[in-house]
Amino acid sequence: MPTPDEGHLTKDPIYDTVEQGDFRAMLEVGRYGQRTDAFDAIIGQTRDHFWDPMDKAYIDFDTPFDVTREYILPPERLQELTGAVKDRLDEGQQIGLANEIVRWTVSNILHGEQGALSLSTSLVDILRDPGAQEYAANQAREEARHVTGFSRYIGVRWGTPYPVGDVLGDMLDELVTTPVVYKKLVGMQMLLEGLAMGAFANLHKHTRDPLLRRLVQLVMTDEAFHHRFGRIWADRTIAKLSQSERDIVEDWAADCFEKLLFNLVNIRQKRVIYARFGLDWEWVREAVRENYDNNVRRSEMKEGTNVFRVLVKTLLGAGIITERTRHIYAGWVDMRELDSESHEIPGAAVAAQGIAELQAINAKRRRIGKKAIA
Ligand SMILES: [Fe+2]
Ligand SMILES: [Fe+2]
Repeated sequence: MPTPDEGHLTKDPIYDTVEQGDFRAMLEVGRYGQRTDAFDAIIGQTRDHFWDPMDKAYIDFDTPFDVTREYILPPERLQELTGAVKDRLDEGQQIGLANEIVRWTVSNILHGEQGALSLSTSLVDILRDPGAQEYAANQAREEARHVTGFSRYIGVRWGTPYPVGDVLGDMLDELVTTPVVYKKLVGMQMLLEGLAMGAFANLHKHTRDPLLRRLVQLVMTDEAFHHRFGRIWADRTIAKLSQSERDIVEDWAADCFEKLLFNLVNIRQKRVIYARFGLDWEWVREAVRENYDNNVRRSEMKEGTNVFRVLVKTLLGAGIITERTRHIYAGWVDMRELDSESHEIPGAAVAAQGIAELQAINAKRRRIGKKAIA
């Protein structure tokens, strides 16, 4: 039986935990004075990149876009919009299917944001350090505005979101409810946040809907900091793990990667969409297979903003991939190419530009606020 600490793989006291549900441990007087400053720089910057999804100064949800006539994403970027599936549909239906696939994707992003919100609050419940708690509470506040932002986007474009995909739903459930800290931090802060950063960079680069483009940029200004929190954990933990502990983290990350790679965007997960167009999901799967085999998938992985490529880069940069599991990723991504690239995550430039813009908006608002008080 592992001791609780071995279970969490805690190597730095700033990640110490109390038992889930043990609120009394939070009232212990000695705890308040033991506050880490490791996250103060990130916490301090939240004021600069503040934004509000309910305020038109930041984002205008009245921005028009006709989802029945225009493609939100170029159709050639969607695996279903090729070959036999495309041939079965008229032009209006092709636009309809393409945009429903985007609706499904954005719905799953919304569920992922809810997962990140609930996971952040679950960290507040178990982390003992007041500085780590403050970071997690702050992340929860930012994830809450992402939930609001994506809900509003889906609301104005389609009305309601799709239900969560089975695989993502199971994974979010596991990450939110597990009391094990390393699973939460590797699973959410590194894997899913890395995946989200890639998905946002991709949407930002290719979408034709200016509202979606704006929304993902604003979200990216926050996510860039969440990603940094994961890196701080890895920097303070990975090198101090024993060989067997390190293997546990590495194997668990590889398991999650494979689960996500093969299931996240597969046809079965999206079966609810095809039914609306009178298409049988198993027929769609066969039709897509003819055009979109593993070779196509591998060549797509080479693109800088490909979501899984970003994820592998994140794990590699954090030292979570070693020779033991390198082969699992090497089947999909050119690892030598990744080794020689800078550690900057794709999307970082978009986030930096967004932060500069928010600083200007927020500075102006503070000046107006001061005048009103005077
Ligand atoms: Fe988020
Ligand atoms: Fe996040």
